[in-house]
Amino acid sequence: MKYLETDKKYKRYTITTALPYANGPVHIGHLAGVYVPADIYARYLRSMGEEVILIGGSDEHGVPITIKARKEGVSPQDIVDRYHNIIKQSFEEFGISFDIYSRTTSKAHYETASDYFKRLYDEGKFVEKTSKQYYDPEAKTFLADRYITGTCPHCGNEKAYGDQCEACGTSLAATDLINPKSALSGAEPELRDTKHWYLPLEEYEPFMREWILEGHKEWKTNVYGQCKSWIDQGLQPRAVTRDLDWGVKVPLPDAEGKVLYVWFDAPIGYISFTKELVQNDWEKWWKDQDTKLVHFIGKDNIVFHCIIFPAMLKADGSYILPDNVPANEFLNLEGDKISTSRNWAVWLHEYLKDFPGKQDVLKYVLCANAPETKDNDFTWKDFQTRNNSELVAVYGNFVNRTMVLTHKYFEGRVPQRGELNDLDIQTIEQIKQFPERIGRSIEQYRFREALNEMMNLARLGNKYLTENEPWKTIKTDASRTATVLNISLQICANLAVLSAPFMPIVASKLSDMLNMKQFAWFEAGGCDMLSEGEAIKQPTLLFEQIDDKQIELQMQKLQAAKKENELNQASVAPQSEDISYDDFSKMDIRVGTILEAEKVAKTKKLLKLTVDTGIDKRTIVSGIAEYYKPEEIIGRQVSVLVNLAPKTLKGIESRGMILMAENLDGSLSFVSPDKVLKNGSTIK
Ligand code: MF3
Ligand code: ZN
Repeated sequence: MKYLETDKKYKRYTITTALPYANGPVHIGHLAGVYVPADIYARYLRSMGEEVILIGGSDEHGVPITIKARKEGVSPQDIVDRYHNIIKQSFEEFGISFDIYSRTTSKAHYETASDYFKRLYDEGKFVEKTSKQYYDPEAKTFLADRYITGTCPHCGNEKAYGDQCEACGTSLAATDLINPKSALSGAEPELRDTKHWYLPLEEYEPFMREWILEGHKEWKTNVYGQCKSWIDQGLQPRAVTRDLDWGVKVPLPDAEGKVLYVWFDAPIGYISFTKELVQNDWEKWWKDQDTKLVHFIGKDNIVFHCIIFPAMLKADGSYILPDNVPANEFLNLEGDKISTSRNWAVWLHEYLKDFPGKQDVLKYVLCANAPETKDNDFTWKDFQTRNNSELVAVYGNFVNRTMVLTHKYFEGRVPQRGELNDLDIQTIEQIKQFPERIGRSIEQYRFREALNEMMNLARLGNKYLTENEPWKTIKTDASRTATVLNISLQICANLAVLSAPFMPIVASKLSDMLNMKQFAWFEAGGCDMLSEGEAIKQPTLLFEQIDDKQIELQMQKLQAAKKENELNQASVAPQSEDISYDDFSKMDIRVGTILEAEKVAKTKKLLKLTVDTGIDKRTIVSGIAEYYKPEEIIGRQVSVLVNLAPKTLKGIESRGMILMAENLDGSLSFVSPDKVLKNGSTIK
């Protein structure tokens, strides 16, 4: 069942969500861009009585995973096992209602992906081409672009990667790099011939023009626009294989050391996972014209889901194509781009530690701010405001007041409606419109609008209750109070159904408190969802205030991440030019003990120390007052450069220097022997 008359009537829905790379946990950007909207859509359709599968899984191939594994000295399988489990658990905890959440290293996927390639190969859908690619003669392997570093021809950055320079942002081909080096062995790579299979996208160009540019003008402008620009620039053949030892092996005899390109195998995952879910019954989900296929993705995935994967499906010829690809833009965090490597993110597993049980609050805020038409910003302040002044003050407050008053005046039973006044009749009329109004917005992938409509129902209830003041009429006209509370309770029941796609945990708590039976979406809208005389439970709070302290804590966490980043990025001073041993041995460095220490008057940084160098007891002025208190360091053994020419500082003659190690953040630390030595011991 559907509300949009213009839409074709489909019998079932195959809903896919971009497969997250299993090389890190998932964060709010993932949730806001892909999984929250997909989950709302799927839950809504199920509530409309539709047949739906919601497909997800981890994307476990690709070069970044092999790089991470190498860095940690573990296997790529170790990496993906670790993150697949973390990601899967986060999705479970956040109630993303996947019918299956699988992974691209599953056996079923290897078979499906491999067969898919083989079929296209046998039907001559690929073009074979030999090209020159960098090869590492020491590691004896071809190199992915990411595995080659060198100097960027645009900005001179010496650490540019073969696919991109991260200093100036230019995308590169590995052959553009000056002085290329293999990241595996450090060797200079050489160009060698290698054979690959290409999908000739240019042959699909007329079809794409017709299918997308003519046939899908209703796609979101950001999606349509990107497709148009790709098609207008002219589609190019795309290699679907790579020289790599991590992935689905190319199922051909002369393809040793070659795997399917990750962007070839991953979308086939949607099909493999469907097979895993329903076994022999899978074809109707992928090959029946009455099935609506919808891909939920972020904007960086548009070309793959709108052009390349459809070309793969078209090349086979027996598959349906996506009806829509409602891609979202990006979510920023406190004004900065979310970044895994810079740890600038709110990780789902960490959020749940700090806000246990508040999954729906985060989902609500992410949907209210979803980057549907432009990039958007998540801020903790906004999170707090939406929780306190929308969820607590409107939704929660309305439900709570209604239920408390019902217990107070009517022994917790749904009171009888008496005669209706104009306002009641108007309110009942308005309630009727909500299921369709919210439903239409969801069907058009306008989830923010839908959420706002749902909240308008709570606002309506809150206002209705406040204006009718049933706590006053109870003294003069108890039947008026009964009517008002009955209608208010019916609004609560409507909310329980209509907020369920957005906040499933809260909604089910609410229907449980109301002792409601299960209603389908299209059964909502009425004012007889709760029968007169039925008992309701004692209300518990659906939402809680979030105070400034909790928000400050989150801001501090982010500040810490920022600081840590700056430290990591601060470059270690480059090595100075070489010196001879004679140069070094000119320095007479001894172990000494600090005997006395005091601050030098009118300075912030200086301490006047008396040091026993084993040779003598002497005065040394040292710039360490910001890091050590005088009383703390008396008796400490330190390293002293004793033959430094004397120098007068603030009127004090300083003879020698205490050696200090300087941390990246500029803080200083003594360099001390790790056991007590005789003063005057030499350091060499
Ligand atoms: N792993 C990709 C990303 O995070 C998305 C893959 S979607 C699929 O950008 F279609 F390939 F599965
Ligand atoms: Zn550059």
